Amino acid sequence: MSMRRYAAVLGTGSAVPDKVITNHDLAQMVDTTDEWIRQRTGIVERRVAEEGIASSDLGALASSRALEAAGVDPNDLDMILCSTISPDMSFPSTACLISRALGIEKPIPAMDLAAACSGFSYGLQMADGLIRSGINEKVLVVAAETLTRYVDWTDRATCVLFGDAAGAVVLGATDPKAGEETGILYSKLGSLSQYSDVSLLGVPAGGSRKPASAETVAGREHFIQMQGREVYKLAVSTLPDAASDTISEAGLTPDDIDLIIPHQANIRIMEAFVGRLGLTMDRVYVNIDKYGNTSSASAPLALDEAVRLGRAKKGDTVMLITFGAGFTWGANIVRL
Ligand code: UT7
Repeated sequence: MSMRRYAAVLGTGSAVPDKVITNHDLAQMVDTTDEWIRQRTGIVERRVAEEGIASSDLGALASSRALEAAGVDPNDLDMILCSTISPDMSFPSTACLISRALGIEKPIPAMDLAAACSGFSYGLQMADGLIRSGINEKVLVVAAETLTRYVDWTDRATCVLFGDAAGAVVLGATDPKAGEETGILYSKLGSLSQYSDVSLLGVPAGGSRKPASAETVAGREHFIQMQGREVYKLAVSTLPDAASDTISEAGLTPDDIDLIIPHQANIRIMEAFVGRLGLTMDRVYVNIDKYGNTSSASAPLALDEAVRLGRAKKGDTVMLITFGAGFTWGANIVRL
């Protein structure tokens, strides 16, 4: 029995736009095929936000679904952490826009955090610290992304990969006297900043390094650039150790993990590191076929789907594991 205070998962939620773009649709737009995209990535279709819909709209919807599942009134939250690299605008923060959309009237703190595709793992660890230390009782962690707004639809190497989504979790403090061992058991984060060159994976212009100008627009520098093969190699060389270190530091073995929820960037990356853990793909939640790479929304979207479909049940131990630009990575072991 543990006398520790935990950050328990009270509810999960997600939201995706209605508009579907299939591989066949993309084959009409760029020189690609359904077969290439499926075989190289596992993606079959993705969701794209309709005109006028921004990250905070998806984030607010995912958050209200998570609050509803948790039975928590938005005004009972103490903190909002929003992971995004596709904010509505550079400021105000997407977290503040979500707070307003939820009708929150209390002056609770709300902030964005940027760790690219690993942002949800980062947010979970931050929220865990705030709750365990007693600073907060209830924290909303939401990841809201519309990366298709940053996609060059003439670049076949990147435009086939990304989709839009949001996912959210409401975390609440457990009563240490109840002796439960639930919620976030352990998190481990890291970054490989020697690979932070924007040409490896990033959006070169629109920030303080290269402000928006007619030249940056003409040079297509507001779109995502990626050296796919290099990113692939980094992911495959980083994730196996990240996963096994996290599991052993949590005092567990791979077999204790009921379900692995990896960042959905490429099915081959998932297969590679799961094999290295000595596990098989039946232990892994995969929905990349339906949504593509939704950046930091990918892990909470998959978690929410797994919960709603009964693939992840109360008492199950799940591991989220993420990897993204920066390069950043994160892993969280969560008992539902
Ligand atoms: O979320 C953050 C993390 N991001 C990732 O984890 C992405 C990691 N990278 C990947 O998933 C893979 O590298 C990709 C899916 C992006 C690419 O797969 P790949 O097996 O590494 O292919 P490649 O980039 O080495 O390209 C192989 C060939 C090239 O042609 P040549 O040079 O061999 O003639 C490309 O031009 O495939 C070509 N190609 C395409 N062909 C048809 C690239 N994109 C396409 C396409 N359709 N969409």
